[in-house]
Formats: sequence, C-alpha cells, structure tokens
Amino acid sequence: MSMIETHDVTKSYRSGEGVMEILHGVSLSIPAGQCAFIVGPSGSGKSTLLHLIGAMDQPTKGRVVIDGQDLTKMTEPQKDLFRRDKIGIIFQAFNLVGNLTALENVLVPFLPRGITPELRDRAKAMLTKVGLGHRLTHRPIQMSGGEQQRVAIARALVKNPQVVLADEPTGQLDTRTGEDVFRILRELQRELGTTLVVVTHDRRFIQPQDLVLEIEDGLLKK
Ligand SMILES: Nc1ncnc2c1ncn2[C@@H]1O[C@H](COP(=O)(O)OP(=O)(O)OP(=O)(O)O)[C@@H](O)[C@H]1O
Ligand SMILES: [Mg+2]
Repeated sequence: MSMIETHDVTKSYRSGEGVMEILHGVSLSIPAGQCAFIVGPSGSGKSTLLHLIGAMDQPTKGRVVIDGQDLTKMTEPQKDLFRRDKIGIIFQAFNLVGNLTALENVLVPFLPRGITPELRDRAKAMLTKVGLGHRLTHRPIQMSGGEQQRVAIARALVKNPQVVLADEPTGQLDTRTGEDVFRILRELQRELGTTLVVVTHDRRFIQPQDLVLEIEDGLLKK
C-alpha cells in the first residue's frame, strides 16, 4: 500500500513580475515503510515538494494523498491535526528551543495536550535510543551539532508518526557525524516501520533497497 502519493502536483509562486511555476506536475508513490530519497540540484524544488507532502503548504494544482487521505480536501484545522498525529519533521537547522533541555525539547510538541508521566518516560527512552540518555538535562548550547540533531530526531519520532520527513538532516554536520546521525535515523525508521522521506545532496546514504526520486527543474526524472 502506498503511504504517500502525489498526483500531477504543480506549485507556483506569485512574484513581482508574475507567476513562477516551481513544480510542473509531479506524480509519485511511496510505499508504507519505505525509505525514499529526493535528490536533485539546488533550486530544483526538493524542499517545496517535501513541504507539500508534509501539509506545510498546499499545491497550486493536483492532489497529495497521505495514508489514503487527500490533504487538498482538508481544512486548515484538519491539516494541523493530521500533521500533529501522523507526520514527524526534521530540519537541517535542528530547530530546537534554546532555553529548554533535551528532554523538554522532545516533549514540546505535546505541551498543548499536557505531558503525562508515560509520555515523559517515552521521551526519555527515545533519547536513550539516540544515544543521549546522559544528556537529558542539557540545553542546545551545551550539546554538539550531532547531539542536537539526535534530539530533533527523538522529537520527530517520539509520537511514532507514520511519516517522517527530513530536509537535509545532515547538512550542517561534518561527514562522520552526519553518517552517525543518519545511521540512527535509519535504525529507528526500520524498528518503527516508519515511512521516511529524506531530501539530500548526499548520495552516500542511499542503499540498494531505497527509493530514489530525482528531481530536476521541478520535474521527476523517469
Ligand atoms: N515562497 C517562495 N516564493 C517564491 N519562490 C520560491 C518560494 N519558495 C521557493 N521558491 C523558489 O522555488 C525554487 C525551488 O526552491 P526549493 O527550496 O524547493 O529548492 P531545493 O531543491 O530545496 O533547493 P536547495 O537544494 O538549495 O535547498 C527556487 O528557485 C526558489 O527560489
Ligand atoms: Mg531545499
């Protein structure tokens, strides 16, 4: 069964002189539990596509269907709930809250609903899984880049989302640290059966069983 589908998706932006089309009709299908990579040159539309899949933005035309649900038919509040429950997001710049500890950062998405003791235990277990059991009370400034990104991975995965989206998750890390961080992400993805979509310039992480989607000038290469 496919977890992620896009059907002839276009995305245009209105700029000073007129309308600029960035994605020119992208159709793709990513099976549940798959690790998929979106690769392509800078400016080709990779992040734009990832944002559409993550319900962070909407297509100009076409449909985005996640787990059988058509995002383009949802209201904004419905999309917010959908994102909260089903989608974990990891950014290049970690995006941790500076004055919160590692543990608090992992719990941040749950704040509006209240933090139960079970949740706190799950967050601790997830931080231990990413190798940060000894860093629970450290703040971002007291952690290395690789450690911060592992906190961000724990934050994205603690709710056991069906889909995890990562935009250049190792882009700010040195080669060795990037490999370690990516290995942890992949281990968790396998263990939880998550569908993982990674935007990257770096093809080193791609394994034979992965799905590779190459995008160029807003079109998928066949
Ligand atoms: N909000 C916006 N308004 C206008 N143009 C935009 C907007 N967001 C992105 N673009 C344009 O869309 C194109 C694709 O951008 P996108 O961020 O998807 O590229 P990318 O493939 O992720 O590149 P990179 O590898 O550099 O991150 C770029 O030319 C960019 O300038
Ligand atoms: Mg990008």
